[in-house]
Amino acid sequence: MLNAVGLQGAGVKSFVEHDLPRLKKANAKVVASIWGHSVDDYLQAAKMLFDVRDQIAAIEINLSCPNLGGNHVMFSHDAKLSAQIVELCSASNLPLWAKLSPNTSELVEIARAVNSAGAQAVTLVNTAIGMAIDTNSGLPILGNVRGGLSGSALHPIAVRCIYDVRAALPNIKIIGAGGVTSAETAVELMLAGADAVQVGTATFADPKAPIKILRDLKKWAKKRGIEDWSQVTSAAHRGGFKP
Ligand SMILES: Cc1cc2nc3c(=O)[nH]c(=O)nc-3n(C[C@H](O)[C@H](O)[C@H](O)COP(=O)(O)O)c2cc1C
Repeated sequence: MLNAVGLQGAGVKSFVEHDLPRLKKANAKVVASIWGHSVDDYLQAAKMLFDVRDQIAAIEINLSCPNLGGNHVMFSHDAKLSAQIVELCSASNLPLWAKLSPNTSELVEIARAVNSAGAQAVTLVNTAIGMAIDTNSGLPILGNVRGGLSGSALHPIAVRCIYDVRAALPNIKIIGAGGVTSAETAVELMLAGADAVQVGTATFADPKAPIKILRDLKKWAKKRGIEDWSQVTSAAHRGGFKP
């Protein structure tokens, strides 16, 4: 998928008033994703979530949205700015995950910086920046010209990013994302170093994809006699997967 939907959430106040109660009613474990145009925006969002911290498991700090347009700086291409934002978000008193971009050669350094600044986990990866041009009009297809590439095309990039960060930072928690469409693609991210995985684009084709993938993961593990996912996580760094 190539998207330019941007960040259209109704804001933290609306999330706390309307979405959070419904999520809690459904017994969901909630990770709140926040973003901002400025460093101060992130601080304000983190402070607002402080008041409902007992209902939230963690905050995912989105430092890497490619679709904000204009002169927007991608925070996650700057280690110092990213670390500063993570430090400020500790005002929430919640576990922090920093969501990083694959569109930088400094990914490992940025992961190190946000980890030192207080992020227990990094979410790897946000979308890769892509573009499509209409061959009839000769013009870019997306209103924003560039967009975020996700799904299967992103998967090998996600595997590489997770592998590189895990090799450099053995103790950081990694949430893997990028083209998880099946148990095998989820396992691949885990073998590279992910402690957990997210499913995004696959839910557009099938909203029940995460449930099916989880079911297939259990089958996958049972078939191989795997009792604990720690046997799988980072196995590519320990001489391979040994069933
Ligand atoms: C339509 C669409 C909207 C997205 N919006 C967000 C967002 O608001 N915040 C964010 O951190 N990532 C956003 N992402 C990125 C995904 O969360 C994910 O990191 C990325 O798409 C890779 O995973 P996937 O291949 O499973 O989709 C979006 C992706 C898509 C396709």
